[in-house]
Amino acid sequence: MSVLLVHGDREYLVPPGDELQTDLGVLQVPEDVEPGDTLETHLGEAFHVRPLRGPDLFNHFERTGAPMMPRDIGIIVGETGVAGGDRVLDAGTGTGVLSAYLARAGAEVTTFEQKAEFADVARENMRLAGVDDRVDVRTGDVTEHLDDLADEAFDVVTLDTGDAAEVVAHVPDLLVHGGFVSVYSPFVEQTRDAVEAAREAGLSNVTTYETIQRKMDFDDRGSRPSTRGVGHTGYLTFARND
Ligand SMILES: C[S@@+](CC[C@H](N)C(=O)[O-])C[C@H]1O[C@@H](n2cnc3c(N)ncnc32)[C@H](O)[C@@H]1O
Repeated sequence: MSVLLVHGDREYLVPPGDELQTDLGVLQVPEDVEPGDTLETHLGEAFHVRPLRGPDLFNHFERTGAPMMPRDIGIIVGETGVAGGDRVLDAGTGTGVLSAYLARAGAEVTTFEQKAEFADVARENMRLAGVDDRVDVRTGDVTEHLDDLADEAFDVVTLDTGDAAEVVAHVPDLLVHGGFVSVYSPFVEQTRDAVEAAREAGLSNVTTYETIQRKMDFDDRGSRPSTRGVGHTGYLTFARND
């Protein structure tokens, strides 16, 4: 698994054995690097070694499809109860932040990405995160593979695609009894399609949340929600297979 090399406010995600080259010099990361170590470049610049944690995936993965924000992943984990040993079907992979988070929590993830070049980047991101043995990144349109997946009995299905409603219609064939599907969308129209598909498929507990998070500012004048930043990221819909 990669480590974070930290120098002031700079951070780099680097696997053991790799070389980091920056304007601060060249740094060879030993195979046996440990969090807490201090490493020096050939110019004598010191880097502190931190262990990789979930938010580092969002901050340091190479980006392709817009990655899901940690706060939305938190809601998915809370609402679906996804846990170690669960089998998860995910689409689309995109950058792979959600897949890597779920695998780090102990789930076995099968994830579909329709763009071959995005799937290649996601596979490299899984290697960086040390979860390439628990995330199977498959290249392809998930809607064309639903028949093959019907026997696999997933505990959780996580969807982050514009055509998620098409998959939701097949969720009763994909999920174990009592399993959950989550659908993330930035748009209310796609969310409504997913809700209607879930109801038509006979899923229960169909519930949608808009996710809004406000950062707090504390300074000498007083305390208040930050006046900067994006409040809305998207809508999260959950439903259960009975
Ligand atoms: C918003 S990104 C997903 C981000 C991902 N959840 C993450 O956390 O990094 C959506 C991705 O889904 C892919 N996609 C869209 N429709 C798809 C489909 N039907 N099958 C597979 N991939 C699809 C897109 O190419 C894009 O890369």
